[in-house]
Amino acid sequence: MNVLLIVSGGIAAYKSIDLSSSLVKKGHDVKVVLTENAKKFVTELPFQTLTKNRVYTSTFEELDEKEIQHIDLTKWADKIIVAPATANIISKFACGIADDLATSLMLAVQDVRKVYIVPAMNTVMYNNPVIQENISRLLKLGFNFVEPDNGLLACGDVGKGKFPTIEKIEGTVFAESELDLKGKKVLVTAGPTKEFIDPFRCLTNPSTGKMGIAIANEFKKRGAEVILVTSVKNDSINRDVKIIEIISTNDMFEAVRNNFKDCDYIVKAAAVSDYTPVQVYDKKVKKQDGNLTMEFERTQDILKYVGENKNENQIVVGFAAETNDLIAYAREKIVKKNLDYIVANDISKKDIGFGSEDNEVCIIDKFNNIIKIDKTSKANIAKEIVDVISK
Ligand SMILES: Cc1cc2nc3c(=O)[nH]c(=O)nc-3n(C[C@H](O)[C@H](O)[C@H](O)COP(=O)(O)O)c2cc1C
Repeated sequence: MNVLLIVSGGIAAYKSIDLSSSLVKKGHDVKVVLTENAKKFVTELPFQTLTKNRVYTSTFEELDEKEIQHIDLTKWADKIIVAPATANIISKFACGIADDLATSLMLAVQDVRKVYIVPAMNTVMYNNPVIQENISRLLKLGFNFVEPDNGLLACGDVGKGKFPTIEKIEGTVFAESELDLKGKKVLVTAGPTKEFIDPFRCLTNPSTGKMGIAIANEFKKRGAEVILVTSVKNDSINRDVKIIEIISTNDMFEAVRNNFKDCDYIVKAAAVSDYTPVQVYDKKVKKQDGNLTMEFERTQDILKYVGENKNENQIVVGFAAETNDLIAYAREKIVKKNLDYIVANDISKKDIGFGSEDNEVCIIDKFNNIIKIDKTSKANIAKEIVDVISK
């Protein structure tokens, strides 16, 4: 999930460093905004190091000319956590004051139900009728609050106002209801395969695995146990996804065959090679005069194998990347391979598909129903696909 963490200038700001670390460990992509006063308590560096993202501190430091930070950050975020939230920032939110980045972006949040405010302050400040009235106002508008704990406060007083535990914050923000696929097991394949001809050359394709990785991450985010069979290994894969690394189509076949039996969902988003060389040279093939002819044989059809060997409760989803007659090929593939769904995408379009951040697909089920998803990010497409196949 994309989490925007806003840290304001309270003594508990240092605890948000741990919070950012915990969120990252759970597989969330975390971006941090510090108020000017938060910088009196903590610096950008630990947040930047832990989240691997730059830290935002000023409305006017527009480093990316394609972005307007306070608007784009709110659109990017699935959840916004304000922790710690000072009495000051709560009051500014309640009044619509927008005099820094944190408060400006709060006015740009379209659905405030994704905002979680974690007040932390002295008990008297917390109980101050003005603060309580501002909290009530924000609650009425749909903002969420994580109640502060009771206990010994930094100022030496004992009472309500203590920064809550990370478990309590995360438990509230990522409520159980969103883990709708907890208990489910999923196998996803992603990325290209490589069929080696000699130690230095191979037959492959330009797939980057982004679509399959987005699907694996979406399943993981929703609580499923996920195995990702892939040749791609990078930081975008949720750390809790189990990766089985493969190189060739045959490796992928073995990995799928050995792991798909107890999975509820099998999504084959990899771009596998249909052919592999009959002869693999153990030394580099030398250049000669004239042409080179090589014989290739068919690889194992992994999707067909899974379709033929699945049980009635398993959902198998294939991908059809085609350059022409997309829907017709996709329909044929569903029947031939005994699939439940096929996700068809047109790889002849330059701005979508292979390597790009966006995609545009049709999800077709075995009853021939078609859902068209217009061009959007692969993360959004992944969400739609998981919604459709798990409903
Ligand atoms: C040492 C110290 C600790 C503070 N701790 C808190 C606190 O825990 N909660 C709070 O609401 N304000 C606290 N404040 C007051 C805020 O820093 C102050 O209201 C500031 O204007 C908040 O700015 P911001 O909301 O823009 O980050 C503290 C101030 C100091 C000097």
